[in-house]
Amino acid sequence: MPVAAPLLETRLSGLAPHRQGKVRDIFDLGDSLVMVATDRISAFDYVLGSGIPDKGKVLTQLSAFWFGKTGTIVPNHVLTTDVREYPAAMQEHAEILAGRSMLVRKTNPVPIECVARGYLSGSGWKEYQASGAVCGIALPNDLRESDRLPQPIFTPATKATTGHDVNVSEAEAGRLVGPALVERLRVLTLELYEFGAAHAEACGIILADTKFEFGLTDTGEVILIDEVLTPDSSRYWPKDQYVPGGPQPSFDKQYVRDYLEQIRWNKQPPVPSLPDDVVMRTREKYLEAYRRLTGKELD
Ligand SMILES: Nc1ncnc2c1ncn2[C@@H]1O[C@H](COP(=O)(O)OP(=O)(O)OP(=O)(O)O)[C@@H](O)[C@H]1O
Ligand SMILES: [Mg+2]
Repeated sequence: MPVAAPLLETRLSGLAPHRQGKVRDIFDLGDSLVMVATDRISAFDYVLGSGIPDKGKVLTQLSAFWFGKTGTIVPNHVLTTDVREYPAAMQEHAEILAGRSMLVRKTNPVPIECVARGYLSGSGWKEYQASGAVCGIALPNDLRESDRLPQPIFTPATKATTGHDVNVSEAEAGRLVGPALVERLRVLTLELYEFGAAHAEACGIILADTKFEFGLTDTGEVILIDEVLTPDSSRYWPKDQYVPGGPQPSFDKQYVRDYLEQIRWNKQPPVPSLPDDVVMRTREKYLEAYRRLTGKELD
């Protein structure tokens, strides 16, 4: 299959997106949104200078796969992924939108990142080393980096407008959005994590941790939004290489991280671009994650 040029920015006949996240371009249609996953890739909170061809398709199609599987746990924002069902004005852009976009219900996003962790890594490991706890949850005192936790934990974070998200206790999250809502989000987050982790495990992949976002509809219903259980929102580790006691190789971004280490990027602008071989190997890992988790080829 020839590799298409990466989509770095979505322009629909000159119409710019209403909003751009690090990865998604969002077109606001009133009650609904068209969310386009581009091929942008971020590392250390910066969007890098190179895109990964087809990465946006993997994110969208993998999210669609998980939204389909988790609908019995919680309803979600997906209206359709079929461009032929989009509003007429959007259909003429099928070439760009097909396979990498979704028409979704517009919600009021709950301003809390709902993180579930089954393993001790990343900011969880840092917090544990400093305090023996993560988000106020005390843990056994003999854990190593990347160890499996006695049971998965809910570790909410606030969505910082700039830079890193900040881990908060469940009580602090409750003060922000209400304790009853946080309690509900905790239950849903852990149930979704358990479901995803069991499925991934059967595919030879460890789901170390993951982040969900929820939104409130205008009738006050809580629904799952954004992306679900993708390599960008999750820490996936190859199970056959798992050795606790240190950091694990990342399923998808290891080549990118190794490269950024190698050039000793100071994690400040200007952002680096990636050499072709790093781009192509990273693309292959995203495709592999898709294939292994869904058992299908990308559309
Ligand atoms: N159904 C929805 N209704 C409203 N907002 C949504 C919905 N689904 C996703 N979003 C928002 O759209 C954005 C997705 O874009 P993207 O993932 O690129 O952003 P990000 O870089 O993760 O975060 P930021 O928005 O802070 O830049 C997120 O801000 C997310 O909260
Ligand atoms: Mg995002």
